[in-house]
Amino acid sequence: MRLIETIAELRDWSRLSRAWGRCVGLVPTMGALHAGHIALVQAARARCQAVAVSIFVNPTQFGPNEDFSRYPRTFAADCAMLEAEGVDVVFAPSVEEMYNPGASTFVEVDGLSSRLDGLSRPGHFRGVATVVAKLFLAAEPDHAFFGQKDAAQVAVLRRMTRDLALPLELVVCPIVREPDGLALSSRNRYLSPPERAQALVLHRALTAVAIEFHAGNTRADSLKSLAAAIFAVEPDVKIDYIEAVDWETLLPVQTAIPGTLIAVAAWVGTTRLIDNLILS
Ligand code: PAF
Repeated sequence: MRLIETIAELRDWSRLSRAWGRCVGLVPTMGALHAGHIALVQAARARCQAVAVSIFVNPTQFGPNEDFSRYPRTFAADCAMLEAEGVDVVFAPSVEEMYNPGASTFVEVDGLSSRLDGLSRPGHFRGVATVVAKLFLAAEPDHAFFGQKDAAQVAVLRRMTRDLALPLELVVCPIVREPDGLALSSRNRYLSPPERAQALVLHRALTAVAIEFHAGNTRADSLKSLAAAIFAVEPDVKIDYIEAVDWETLLPVQTAIPGTLIAVAAWVGTTRLIDNLILS
């Protein structure tokens, strides 16, 4: 496995790979890898002959009071996991490599960027869209792999890819969960044992919504109220949002249909967790 730290070298690797007839896959990450990331890598391996994983804790997607400085950084362990998966390249640039001093160009996906997490975390999706656009320009992948857990991020990046006519396919992989239902997240490691137990309420709320929808209740308000009632059982967990939205526009729906995104975000202690469900 090769470690690449510059954009120029990554681009050369990608172009050479394609010249050899290999399809290039990119898995963008911020490191602190877990089985959810590994599922993305395996999806990339199954589809592409040349796979790069980026590890970059992107400062522009964190707000001033967010966890940028304490975000878990486990580079050696991450590389060991990626090597075991047969990844070809780890791209681990410095902040200066990704952002020239004085860089003032950003990618903003209007509208979508201020919905769901974008409402609670102003500027977050501008940072995500900007860094992912830069990663796409550097790696020139044929396919890029993202997890459904970040469903709003997926909507923003799909729109960006479409609007900029970027020549690649976004592949969205299912949420990976612990056996008890907790969605895997790098931030789960912040949770104390009691918080870890409280965090299960996110999955319980979504499961209740799925059951209710399958029973025939399609009223979004009623489904959201049901989820809020489940959250009320864990008073220490503070809801950020519970929404039923169209996954393409992230706009609220009144009537849920198959494909509607039910998304939740909540604070468990000082840790903000997100989870979601696509109604089927
Ligand atoms: O989902 C993430 O880990 C990040 O938002 C991403 C896509 C790697 C951009 O920094």
